Amino acid sequence: MRPEERAWLGDDFVKWRESLRNGYFRALMYHALMEAGVLDELAKAQEPKTVQELADQCQVNAGILRQALTYLSLADSTMEKVGDAFALGPDGEWLLAPGFRGLLKIWVGAYGSSLNALLPALRNEQVYGRDYERDGGATAEGTWFSASHQDAEPTARRMLELGARNVAELACGTAPQLRVLCKLDSAVTGVCMDYSEDALAAARRFAEEEGSAGRMSFHVGDLMRPEEFLTSSSFRDVDAFVLQGALHELLRDGEDEVLRILRTFKEHAPGKLFVIGELRHCSDDDYRARPIFERTRRLAVDHIMHGPLTAQGQPLSIEGWCSLFERAGFQLLEITKSDWDSSIRDIYFLRI
Ligand SMILES: C[S@@+](CC[C@H](N)C(=O)[O-])C[C@H]1O[C@@H](n2cnc3c(N)ncnc32)[C@H](O)[C@@H]1O
Repeated sequence: MRPEERAWLGDDFVKWRESLRNGYFRALMYHALMEAGVLDELAKAQEPKTVQELADQCQVNAGILRQALTYLSLADSTMEKVGDAFALGPDGEWLLAPGFRGLLKIWVGAYGSSLNALLPALRNEQVYGRDYERDGGATAEGTWFSASHQDAEPTARRMLELGARNVAELACGTAPQLRVLCKLDSAVTGVCMDYSEDALAAARRFAEEEGSAGRMSFHVGDLMRPEEFLTSSSFRDVDAFVLQGALHELLRDGEDEVLRILRTFKEHAPGKLFVIGELRHCSDDDYRARPIFERTRRLAVDHIMHGPLTAQGQPLSIEGWCSLFERAGFQLLEITKSDWDSSIRDIYFLRI
């Protein structure tokens, strides 16, 4: 193991053990303080805030807040305790980074309940989808902060060059692609579709804040039943589809099922643009080629989120996805490959 990896994991047993404890508690506490608005209040403050001031502003329990802030100010570099008050510390701006918020929303907010079900799932006592499920709104928001905000704009620019104007964003989450398209071009309209009403509510809220909600409609629909939404009136004038980070979920039912879904698009929407953002399969050696602190994010997505937590199985290689698109009769126009670190998906521009 490289020395910097050793130091990151903890270079003796006590450091290794205690970094595990500290990471676990920090994730849970930061998530609670973020959702309660305490991190935002600390970020806005010009001077240190007392616990009572923060508790009143965020309407939270002052006793619990005091313990949480004391823990974090003494166990991390992001906060400081000044007398009886608290302020952001030397690394306080890390708490405002989208990648930090995305991590908490996804892993604690969306998949926390699944992580709690790990033991019963391991024992075959509980099954994802039947006994426990992730939180749809947190999944949508977490994906926006951790991944979609990074690749949405270049993808939107290319979609506009390829003529997209009335766009259906499928499995939309917060509808990153359609929102960015609306921001870039005032002529764009579209429909947001997801099976999670919480995700659609998040999409509507983000679009309202950005002033584009009036150019969108919001449609509850299931990607597994494309014939239903493709024939509905909201989709009649759509000239392009975009589907980011969700097709792999349908691999749960096998490649043939994904093929059936794509072929239904071929039947109902031939000739239209279809932009699909998808994860790429990584081998153990692909992971080994990177230092541990670079590989854990992607490892967690592939082997925790898509593995025990949702039983989705592994994504396909680029060749595997292309073969699926070809068998469905789609024409591949181009691929934007992800650089793995900043974004974890490749974007396929296809003609149905
Ligand atoms: C990882 S998030 C991606 C969200 C968004 N596309 C983005 O890139 O930010 C996956 C989304 O797919 C949605 N989804 C998963 N399976 C679906 C299905 N069968 N029908 C409709 N939406 C689905 C989830 O509710 C969630 O919003």
